[in-house]
Amino acid sequence: MLFATSEVAPLVKTGGLADVSASLPAALAGLGVDVRLLLPGYPAIIAGMRERSGVASIAAHAGFPAAKLLAGALPGNLRCFVIDCPALYDRVGNPYTDSSGADWSDNPLRFGLLGWTGALLARDALALGWQPDVVHGNDWQTGLMPAYLALQAVPRAARAASVFTVHNLAFGGNFEPGLLPQLGLPRSSFGIDGLEYYGRLSFLKSGLYYADRLTTVSPTYAQEIQREPLGFGLQGLLAVRAQRLDGILNGIDEATWNPQSDPHLAARFDAAKLDTRARNRQALRARMGLADEPDAMLLGLVSRFTEQKGIDLILDAWPQLMQRGHRLQLAMLGSGDPALTLRAHDLVRRHPRQVAFAEGFDEPLSHLIEGGIDAFLMPSRFEPCGLNQMYSQRYGTPPIVRATGGLADSVTDAADPVDGAGFVFTQETPAALSATIERALAAWRDPARWRALQQAGMRREFGWRASARRYLDVYQRAMAEAAAAR
Ligand code: ADP
Ligand code: GLC
Repeated sequence: MLFATSEVAPLVKTGGLADVSASLPAALAGLGVDVRLLLPGYPAIIAGMRERSGVASIAAHAGFPAAKLLAGALPGNLRCFVIDCPALYDRVGNPYTDSSGADWSDNPLRFGLLGWTGALLARDALALGWQPDVVHGNDWQTGLMPAYLALQAVPRAARAASVFTVHNLAFGGNFEPGLLPQLGLPRSSFGIDGLEYYGRLSFLKSGLYYADRLTTVSPTYAQEIQREPLGFGLQGLLAVRAQRLDGILNGIDEATWNPQSDPHLAARFDAAKLDTRARNRQALRARMGLADEPDAMLLGLVSRFTEQKGIDLILDAWPQLMQRGHRLQLAMLGSGDPALTLRAHDLVRRHPRQVAFAEGFDEPLSHLIEGGIDAFLMPSRFEPCGLNQMYSQRYGTPPIVRATGGLADSVTDAADPVDGAGFVFTQETPAALSATIERALAAWRDPARWRALQQAGMRREFGWRASARRYLDVYQRAMAEAAAAR
């Protein structure tokens, strides 16, 4: 199978998609699947490839410049194809935005070419002698791949089946319909039964409409997107396709996120040596400039700073919590919306020894936070899956989460005496978050109770084994349907 994606850890990562793009293919390979990734040739990808060789030329087509297809291996021994097209991909920085944070203006072409190349490989049009049974695209950046496949004059049985995964329905990849010719798409595809979304050309809707099968990254999110408000206008299409939509919870990379071997921790630990975590907490406090107050509970977060993640709920709740005299500290790592990062810096100015904010993207620090804080905050407004609440449980860090999407599917509230491993609340308000933080603080003051919560989380299985089998099942169903169309 061919796994098309716009980012992959550790080489190019802006969020959870990169983690999944490394760990799911690895898990599939472990099940015996011949899986190859398809990626844009950003400088970091080309530099990070091993055994790199040119395997085909991709002819210029519509508005796409000519390109080369490279084959090789990525860290973790993942086999990959990479599109070498300097005119579109040879730029420093973020895969989606320039240094000012504005989207690259040619993103439709940059990601159109990703879909176009995937569709060529799906019918072995580049004569590689390797044709996948299934092409699996992820998020809007690959949304045109199923459209190119479905719209080509190629019988379904002569091409791979297509599976499209929604990691986040909030990102549509919506552009002006005038781009259709440049993207090599027929005018007839621009309609309600096709690519049109509120008058614009939507890469995301293209994937949802044309793929043979759809998945999303948790069972709860699969239900939520079939309704307002999380359907973002696509709930009707998703409800119509519900028989072909599966919600499969993401797994985590258990080697990268392992507190027994994590090189970024000051001290490694397991469920039997939880006292050792205190050394990580101390290292984290020192690193982030927080007062060394062992009797203060240390909360933390690692996140994109966006509306989705409910960061504003934390910033709103914090002054009240301080006023009530609670001994709490907060360590934040993240970047994003300037309105939120400015407010975070402002909170630090008001509580310099109790609140710290590292602005930026810092993989090592994200591990130290997971291994050093007492509880992890994730009050997301919506969360297709979320990974940090799973990393947290593996690191003996009970997460405090809102009951939405994958958070609802992966965190059991402390009210459950056996499996409780976190704190779950429902209302999207600072008051509900504060009350839940107070509930966590009360539990933290009782060491035996807290230890039971930590150990329940550490016992839980978050690896890919079960979920990778479910993807395999989706691929096999898509293939069987393609064969039946013969
Ligand atoms: P999303 O993909 O919506 O951002 P996820 O929870 O699925 O949310 O995944 C986010 C991933 O990105 C996690 O691995 C998290 O640790 C990482 N991450 C987010 N922000 C940062 C940051 N500022 N520094 C380091 N890692 C980060
Ligand atoms: C998206 C979602 C996140 C999910 C990740 C990986 O970025 O926001 O919830 O965990 O994709 O699937």
